[in-house]
Amino acid sequence: MELQKFYEDPSTLHVGTMENRCYYVPLSGDGKERGRLLSGKEWDFAWYPCVEDVPADFPKADFSAAGFAKLEVPSCWEAKGYGQKQYTNVRYPFPYDPPYVPDENPCGAYLTEFELTQAEAGLRRFLYFEGVDSCFYLWVNGEFVGYSQVSHSPSEFEITAQTHAGKNRLSVLVLKWCDGSYLEDQDKFRFSGIFRDVTLLLRPQEHLQDFTVTTPVDLENGAASVEVRFDRIEGKCRIDCELLDAEGKNLGLAWSAGEPVSLPVEKPVLWNAERPYLYTLKLITPEEVIVQQVGIRCISVENGMVLINGSQVKFKGVNRHDSHPVKGYAVSREDVMRDLTMMKEHNINAIRTSHYPNAPWFPQLCSRYGFYVVAEADLECHGVASVYHGSQENTFGLIAQDPDWNGSILDRQMRNVIRDKNECCVIFWSLGNESGYGPNLEDAGRWVKSYDPTRLTHYESAFWETGGYHNDTSMLDVVSRMYAPTEWVKEYCEDRRQRKPFVQCEFVHAMGNGPGDIHDYMEQMYRYDKFCGGFVWEWCDHANYEGRTEDGRDIYHYGGDAGEYPHDGNFCMDGLVYPDRRPHVGLLEWKNEIRPVRALSMDLESGDIVLQNMQDFVDMADNVKVYYEVKRDGKTWEEGNFGTLSAAPHGTQTCNIPRLKQWAADRTWLRLIYVQREDEALTKQGRIMGFDQFPLFEEKDAKLDLPDAGELTLRETADSFLILSDRICYRFGKKRAAFLSMEKDGKALIEGPVEWSVFRAPVDNDMWMRHEWEAAGYDRVWTKVYECSAKRLDGRVQICCSFSLASAYRQPFLRAEAVWEINGLGAVKFSVNAKRDPQFPWLPRFGLVFTLPKSASGVSYLGYGPYESYSDKHRASWMDRFETTVEEMHEDYVRPQENGSHYHCYEAQVGDWLVKGSRPFSFSASYYTAQELAEKKHNYELERSGHVIWHLDYAMSGVGSNSCGPQLLEQYRLDEEEIRWEMLLEAK
Ligand code: GAL
Ligand code: MG
Repeated sequence: MELQKFYEDPSTLHVGTMENRCYYVPLSGDGKERGRLLSGKEWDFAWYPCVEDVPADFPKADFSAAGFAKLEVPSCWEAKGYGQKQYTNVRYPFPYDPPYVPDENPCGAYLTEFELTQAEAGLRRFLYFEGVDSCFYLWVNGEFVGYSQVSHSPSEFEITAQTHAGKNRLSVLVLKWCDGSYLEDQDKFRFSGIFRDVTLLLRPQEHLQDFTVTTPVDLENGAASVEVRFDRIEGKCRIDCELLDAEGKNLGLAWSAGEPVSLPVEKPVLWNAERPYLYTLKLITPEEVIVQQVGIRCISVENGMVLINGSQVKFKGVNRHDSHPVKGYAVSREDVMRDLTMMKEHNINAIRTSHYPNAPWFPQLCSRYGFYVVAEADLECHGVASVYHGSQENTFGLIAQDPDWNGSILDRQMRNVIRDKNECCVIFWSLGNESGYGPNLEDAGRWVKSYDPTRLTHYESAFWETGGYHNDTSMLDVVSRMYAPTEWVKEYCEDRRQRKPFVQCEFVHAMGNGPGDIHDYMEQMYRYDKFCGGFVWEWCDHANYEGRTEDGRDIYHYGGDAGEYPHDGNFCMDGLVYPDRRPHVGLLEWKNEIRPVRALSMDLESGDIVLQNMQDFVDMADNVKVYYEVKRDGKTWEEGNFGTLSAAPHGTQTCNIPRLKQWAADRTWLRLIYVQREDEALTKQGRIMGFDQFPLFEEKDAKLDLPDAGELTLRETADSFLILSDRICYRFGKKRAAFLSMEKDGKALIEGPVEWSVFRAPVDNDMWMRHEWEAAGYDRVWTKVYECSAKRLDGRVQICCSFSLASAYRQPFLRAEAVWEINGLGAVKFSVNAKRDPQFPWLPRFGLVFTLPKSASGVSYLGYGPYESYSDKHRASWMDRFETTVEEMHEDYVRPQENGSHYHCYEAQVGDWLVKGSRPFSFSASYYTAQELAEKKHNYELERSGHVIWHLDYAMSGVGSNSCGPQLLEQYRLDEEEIRWEMLLEAK
């Protein structure tokens, strides 16, 4: 068919649509919804590769849907098997030739019918599309009604003239691409279709279309008012306004003929995310009622701090996309509620709707359950940085500075702000994401600020100056950055000339095994008043569920797996939760770092512990119960709780454990556990909100004694030493500086030679560093032994060797002396003195890898657990004795990588082996080799080695968040030049 090319014309964004309005579903006088859902069922559907292929008579009222399939609406058609699935981040999936889009522009033709009764035909009829990607043409009963775009914002059409009592037909043609696609280059799978609900609204002739609610608060006098401005009234009608409190008590009445109304509220209960108290405002016109939940709160900035209701607030947030492994963007309320519930359970208090408005009911849920929202407009044109010879430095302004796009960019702001303006959860309006900067964004920001001066404005990319343009950022209330390194944050926050609050709209990139930098940022967020918050990138992994393998493993696909070009691989797998919402360890880390209570100090002498209430509004006594336990090697020596402990928001309280000192002994820890006192809307009493831990001893080197035991024989061959007793038979390789085989009581303790190892299966956050590691050859190391001698010494055998590690065509990066001592029972003590060549990059790890029989499946350790733990990622874990299995230790990242290590261990037992370190060490035990984890692209492809691969590490480098964030902080790198390592290994 032929269409008027609105879809390649940025000067025609909407045809026949209603003006923007706030979101509500009107009720009739008797309280019934005046909306009728047309979605939530199957429509007739046909997919075409291009517009020309759509039958010319498709819009006609009598067009036969005979050849059409059935498609559930809402849905994304690629998720239902139509067209190409594609994941791309920055790069546009089509040539950059704005405002034109490919001629091969896939289309979805949708048909449905609905009936109107005689009575309904007396009302005015509207169609409300909550979200359609990317644009659509609408016909009703064969007549053209209109066109709209902006995928994540609603479009409303009046269809009174085109409809009648009886059957009515709706024909919608959706196009995959339009000029708006240049502004919707968000990092996501590129799905299409009617992905949100469609509602038919039946409304009286005269009704209220749009209104604005504000809630000025007089903090000094403890008073407030609810003010309503009537922005658009259809016809003339009297509006009665009724305000009720949460218990349904009537607080005031007023009426208006269109002029603004003010309803005073004495002693208001103010809204905040911790206690989301809502009033109900009813706007009653003769034949309709609009109900708006109202949270009374005010937002301000003082001395660089963001205040809500006069109190300083920190946003501990996440970036959330609409994403579902089966449904794509078409998430249901239940899906969203699951996200919100999990967020509450993990102490999260803020959400950035990256990078577009969510469904219109989403902010209502955030107001109700208590989340601060950064409401972002549907705008990202990051792809301008990927044009030939382009970059963020020089072409980021291409669209932001082109007058042809001024209207489109403004349109997206208006749709965002006007829809959600009455939701108290919205604290920031965000102009969009990664769209460069210039006059178009400035105009947009000015419009937002003047339309709604009650909220703060946010936009991150405003610091990029391109094309010689000098940016005006005066209309932006906060300075926003993504992934700013800690040094940058420090500099900004300590610079007194910088007055605006600072927010990390994205940080701690949660891709794969990570993020490892939460702690250092949180220290800063609590230290600096100006650092008002951070939003983890991002909430969930995006991947498509593609069924199960024969052996029952879930198959998740990421970028490239559908054969598309271009794609960005697994960069979409960067969430705190797996696609099916199981938490990553990273989410547990984030949870404890943003716990509602923190123990600031512990004094062993007096037993005093100072706790700080990190909440902004709630007294600790209202929702937290503090328990404590003193544990040594898994055994609890003392436990109890502190009853009701009060601490004002941000205030402290001292509690005491009498005679705490009596427990002071080696490897004894005190843990304080914060437990939720009562059920709340989304969380349950007894939930662990977080914890702190203090050692009751000083860390010092342990003495490792190799006991004398039995007689030993030593034999030498050309390339090995044989160590024999009545129980053991060990062979030590002179060319490996390690054991080749170890047998005890006739049983093999190892099933392959022991190897020195510096390699780990790169975690996603190693994606840049791995190039340096590979250049150094850490992934294919040769061991060279210069000397290796053995002797019998006081009833043991002592082997001394000097060796180096290097890879082909490189000089050795490490030289070491190792002394191995073996007793008649097969216990081994080794000490290593190694020198690392500092010209080489820091090491992923340094240690030994043992190939154990697969029966060695039982694990016990004294170290950071129960979750995988690293030097920079152990805040979800605590020091304790843990019993586990090799199976359980595997963290099954969809793209396999190093996982399941345990940091700061004093002891570990794997199968028949028990090891102790003179200093804390790291270890892991897995059915997979590091090479297997490094090679396979998906977890469902992993093949077990047939052994337990046991890594015993002097140390393992941190994981950081360098996939998108800054380089791993120095303190978490294994970069020491001198390594001294001592361990004792005993076999059962
Ligand atoms: C940011 C961007 C996000 C996401 C992230 C990488 O630059 O704003 O949308 O792409 O990088 O995961
Ligand atoms: Mg981007």
